[in-house]
Amino acid sequence: MISVGVIGCGHWGPNHIRVFSQLPNAQCMMAADLDEGRLKAVKALYPSVVTTTSYKDILASKEIEAVCIAAPTKLHFQFAKEALEARKHVLCEKPLAMLPEECLELGEIAKKAGRFLMVGHVFLFNAGIRWVKEYIDSGEMGKIYYTHSERTNLGPFRYDVNALWDLAPHDIAIFDYILSGSAQSASARGLKCLGNNLEDLAFATLDYPSGNLANIHVSWIDPRKVRQITIVGEKKMLVWDDLDPLGAVRVYDKHVERTTKFYETYGEFQLLSREGAITIPKISSQEPLKAQGQYFIDCIEKGLPPQLADADKAASVVKTLCAIQKSMDHQGALAVI
Ligand SMILES: NC(=O)c1ccc[n+]([C@@H]2O[C@H](COP(=O)([O-])OP(=O)(O)OC[C@H]3O[C@@H](n4cnc5c(N)ncnc54)[C@H](O)[C@@H]3O)[C@@H](O)[C@H]2O)c1
Repeated sequence: MISVGVIGCGHWGPNHIRVFSQLPNAQCMMAADLDEGRLKAVKALYPSVVTTTSYKDILASKEIEAVCIAAPTKLHFQFAKEALEARKHVLCEKPLAMLPEECLELGEIAKKAGRFLMVGHVFLFNAGIRWVKEYIDSGEMGKIYYTHSERTNLGPFRYDVNALWDLAPHDIAIFDYILSGSAQSASARGLKCLGNNLEDLAFATLDYPSGNLANIHVSWIDPRKVRQITIVGEKKMLVWDDLDPLGAVRVYDKHVERTTKFYETYGEFQLLSREGAITIPKISSQEPLKAQGQYFIDCIEKGLPPQLADADKAASVVKTLCAIQKSMDHQGALAVI
């Protein structure tokens, strides 16, 4: 049984407290927040959890082996560093830090302390995304031409980071995972609409080594909540829609063929669209946050590093975020990663 302490009990932290309270081989022992009101709310739901206004109480506890960080983004690096130095295993919310060098530094500290460090790239534990990764790897789609993700809603707004840093870590982590690599360059535009001097939306285009383009649209000022990715391959196309009640993945047996049938004399070709069935594969699902928590705890118990979302993977995502931000700051100029 691994005892966990959760730092940050705002909107998201209580979900981690619930998950670690429900897992068979973990328990949430302590929770910290500066806000007494948030601690009261946690205590009402989980009376056995010890609450504190000082996260240092969690770091000082001898019984607690692992720390989960769900505090504001700009505190992730400091809290993760202190927790690793206190020889705790760490699961930190995305993005792990604001600079790739900081992610790598945390990875080194974890190695020296003999502890595991994992970032909460929770969509890597989404059953639909797992299915899509396997499908692409099977070669059924052929060469991937492009991917396009939309992550929009009206709110929730943040005051510490912009919509890019809040939302796009998910899309970049998904693209790195399903395309088995990381982006090489970025060009992006963003817009500050609401007067907080933060970009409320971003449109980013990334180049992946396999030659495909990956496009990301994130926004917290959009009329619709959308969590969608379109993937276009040379043999098949698919759409992942996390909010579709009928099934998250639709595979379109659609592609384009080149033919010289009618133009042989001129050596020309014609493009013909081919359309077959649209299928919705049966994908059994588990709550991604719970699957993520289970993976973290299992890694600790088995002594296996959390390779799926380790410091290197986190650094790669943050490197891409920095490049997108740089491009946005220069009105879309290409930023090499
Ligand atoms: N994976 C996901 O899908 C997902 C979803 C939501 C949020 N998040 C991440 O979770 C983190 C928290 O997001 P949130 O929406 O809960 O934010 P929030 O602002 O609602 O909560 C943050 C909490 O941290 C507390 N805090 C601030 N400084 C502290 C300190 N020094 N010690 C202890 N507590 C402190 C605040 O009082 C607040 O209650 C962010 O990094 C965010 O990116 C991830």
